[in-house]
Amino acid sequence: MAVVRIPETGETLTDNEAIADYLAGCGIEYARWTAEHPVPADAPADEILSAYAKEIEMLKAKGGYVTADMIDVNPETPGLDTMLAKFNREHWHSEDEVRFIVAGHGLFHIHPKNGPVIAIEVEAGDLMSVPRETWHWFDLCSDRRIRAIRLFQDMSGWTPFYTESDTEKKFAPVCFGGAYLPVGAGTIS
Ligand SMILES: [Fe+2]
Repeated sequence: MAVVRIPETGETLTDNEAIADYLAGCGIEYARWTAEHPVPADAPADEILSAYAKEIEMLKAKGGYVTADMIDVNPETPGLDTMLAKFNREHWHSEDEVRFIVAGHGLFHIHPKNGPVIAIEVEAGDLMSVPRETWHWFDLCSDRRIRAIRLFQDMSGWTPFYTESDTEKKFAPVCFGGAYLPVGAGTIS
């Protein structure tokens, strides 16, 4: 289950409905998905995609997405830091950013045009859809692991365009949810 924090107001949301409502007000879709049948988080990609086929097809029809694939990174992934450095600065895409988390954790920061920055910590079972042109950035949590289904309208639209605002520097990329706390959180950069 996700945890949403609004650093400017000190507010924290942990209730699914409250999270979905707040994010909907910012144009972001949040939902919890349950697999059609039990599937281990480390199952091959095609098994995971088939376990969530119903939800994927519904979302494809609603959002005009044509492809679904899996992103899978862990601390041993070659070039992980280079990959992350592309997305941990405030940016936007000409494509929706749609992610369903299968394993691991991630921290999205969303910078709405008319509202305070939101930190959304996601974990297995969370679906998030960030509309195109929304300003945001992404960090991994201390487990440095995320496995997620991605949905695309057009994969070429996923190029990041940087705002160069440096807004991300004002927010520590620290995750608080689940059963762990990052060691030396203040030193994570
Ligand atoms: Fe992005």
